[in-house]
Amino acid sequence: MWFKIAEIIKNLQEKIDLERLPEHIAVIMDGNGRWAKHQNKPRVFGHRNGVKAVREVTEACAELGVKYLTLYAFSQENWNRPKLEVSALMGLLVDTLTKEMATLTKNDIKLEAIGNISQLPRSTYNALLKGIERTKSNSRMTLVLALNYSSRVEITRAAQAIAEDAKLGNVDISTLSEDTFSSYLETAAYPDPELLIRTSGEQRISNYLLWQIAYAELYFTQVFWPDFEREHLYEAIVDYQSRERRFGKTSEQLV
Ligand code: FPP
Repeated sequence: MWFKIAEIIKNLQEKIDLERLPEHIAVIMDGNGRWAKHQNKPRVFGHRNGVKAVREVTEACAELGVKYLTLYAFSQENWNRPKLEVSALMGLLVDTLTKEMATLTKNDIKLEAIGNISQLPRSTYNALLKGIERTKSNSRMTLVLALNYSSRVEITRAAQAIAEDAKLGNVDISTLSEDTFSSYLETAAYPDPELLIRTSGEQRISNYLLWQIAYAELYFTQVFWPDFEREHLYEAIVDYQSRERRFGKTSEQLV
């Protein structure tokens, strides 16, 4: 049985064209709660098992040669969840960030974050800063955690900062380009994601990287996040590679 699964994974991996890998993959990790409910367990059980998928996908992306992986770990809207769930999630982040340092180091992965992280509970914020500091010289892949993140807030803040710079005479609004606008976003240092994966069957963007995914291929799978394994990532990449990315052109113009 195990041998069979290993064979399926190997076959899928071999279908991936390493020359045409997405440089940046963004993921909306969804379905932890429902996964737990199906097993008559509390929602937190789903989040805890979601960590396994985070490890698996992070390692698999680094091994393949993906340069950036951005995970939606906590949206600004997630504060509306029951207090107990929010504090369990924050605690889980502290535990995971501490325990997984070895995995990040072993795989030469740099940890970074986007979102309003200064509003996170102190212990989560400190664990995050520690992880970012300890991995800052790693260079194989950058793992970006979106935490207390809202794309609309990010875009609004960028617009405010541009207006301030215009007042100071540092930006000419009449010639403001898309590239200059992008440079005011928290993701300024990363290329835009070419592939966005959302698990659990939901087909929404949920205020995630709205500017950055303008040309991303969207991949939705029924698999709940805790069940998302290496083979599912490979399937998403194979599917991505089968698509024709036209950027507004016709098929004929691409040949
Ligand atoms: C969405 O599932 C998941 C989250 C809001 C949290 C994701 C967090 C983790 C996977 C754990 C820790 C993460 C890291 C990066 C260490 P849901 O609860 O909305 O599921 P549901 O839609 O079934 O209710």
